[in-house]
Amino acid sequence: MLRVIKSPFSLSKFSSMAAARNQRLFCTDPTKVDEPVKTEEADTVHVPPLSEKILVLGGNGFVGSHICKEALGRGLAVSSLSRTGRSTIQEPWANNVIWYQGNLLSDDSWKDALKGVTSVISCVGGFGSNSYMYKINGTANINAIRAAAEEGVKRFVYISAADFGVVNYLLQGYYEGKRAAETELLTRYTYGGVILRPGFIHGTRRVGSVKLPLSVIGSPMEMVLQHAKPLGQLPLIGPLLTPPVSVTAVAKVAVRAASDPVFPPGIVDVFGILRYSQQKSV
Ligand SMILES: NC(=O)c1ccc[n+]([C@@H]2O[C@H](COP(=O)([O-])OP(=O)(O)OC[C@H]3O[C@@H](n4cnc5c(N)ncnc54)[C@H](OP(=O)(O)O)[C@@H]3O)[C@@H](O)[C@H]2O)c1
Repeated sequence: MLRVIKSPFSLSKFSSMAAARNQRLFCTDPTKVDEPVKTEEADTVHVPPLSEKILVLGGNGFVGSHICKEALGRGLAVSSLSRTGRSTIQEPWANNVIWYQGNLLSDDSWKDALKGVTSVISCVGGFGSNSYMYKINGTANINAIRAAAEEGVKRFVYISAADFGVVNYLLQGYYEGKRAAETELLTRYTYGGVILRPGFIHGTRRVGSVKLPLSVIGSPMEMVLQHAKPLGQLPLIGPLLTPPVSVTAVAKVAVRAASDPVFPPGIVDVFGILRYSQQKSV
C-alpha cells in the first residue's frame, strides 16, 4: 500500500517535462554494460527547472537525503519513496519533501508515486545475503525502471557502484544486482538514463541518533587517490584504489543528471563524478 506521510505540495501543481528534455543527442550501446560508456562533458546550459518534479527512491537514506536537500536547493519539487517513509532527519528542508511509504518489491500501489514525475533518482540498494542483495540492488530497481518507463517518466538516474575487483566475488549478489539494473536502465532509457558508479561515499552518515563522520577517512583518501588514476589499472589491487567521493558530490551530479537536458546519458565513473561535481555550473 502506498502511504503519503506528508504532502505540502499538490501533485497537480507540476506539469509534465518540457519537450526539450526529449531532444537528447547522445547514443549508447545498451548491451555493453561492463565497458563504461564514455560520456561527453555536458555543456553548461541552465534550463529553468520550474515544472520539474523529482522522485527520489530511498530519499530517507544516506545518499538519498543529500539528494533531496540538493534538489530542493535547486528549486525542484521533491518526493521520496521508501519502505519506512519519512526521514528521521529533523531539519527544515525535510518538511518540503513529499514522503511516500512503499516497497518496490511488493504490490503495485507504490507506482502512484510516479504520477506527474519528470525524473527519478534511485538510491535503493543494500547488503545482506546474496539473494537479498540481488533483490534489493537488482529486482527492486528493475521494477522501478520498468514502472517509470511505462508511466512516461523522461529521465532515470541510478546510483550504482564501482567495480572493486576481487570484492565483487565476495559480494556477488550486490554486483550482479547492480549490473542487472544497469542493463535494464540502458535498455529502457537509451536517451534519458544515467548511471553513477561511485566507490566509497563519504560524508556524515546517521545511524539512529549517532552521526558517523565518514569524511575523516574518506576526504584525505579522495585527495590522494583522485590524482592516482593510473594505479587503477594495476592488476588485483587497482580497483581497491578507486578514490572515495563525497556524498555532496554524488548528490550534485545526480540532481544535475536528473534535471539538465544536455547531461549525456550513460555510465559516469568515479572520475566523472569528481569532474562534474567540480564544475562551476554544478
Ligand atoms: N554508501 C556508499 O559508500 C555507497 C557506495 C557506492 C554505492 N552506493 C549505492 O548508493 C545507493 C545509496 O546508498 P546509501 O548508502 O544511501 O544506502 P542507504 O542509506 O541504506 O539507503 C538505501 C535506501 O533504499 C531504501 N530501500 C531499500 N529497500 C527498499 C525497497 N524495497 N523499496 C523502497 N525503498 C527501499 C531505504 O529506505 P527504507 O529502509 O526505508 O526502505 C533507504 O532509503 C545504494 O544503491 C548503494 O548501493 C553506496
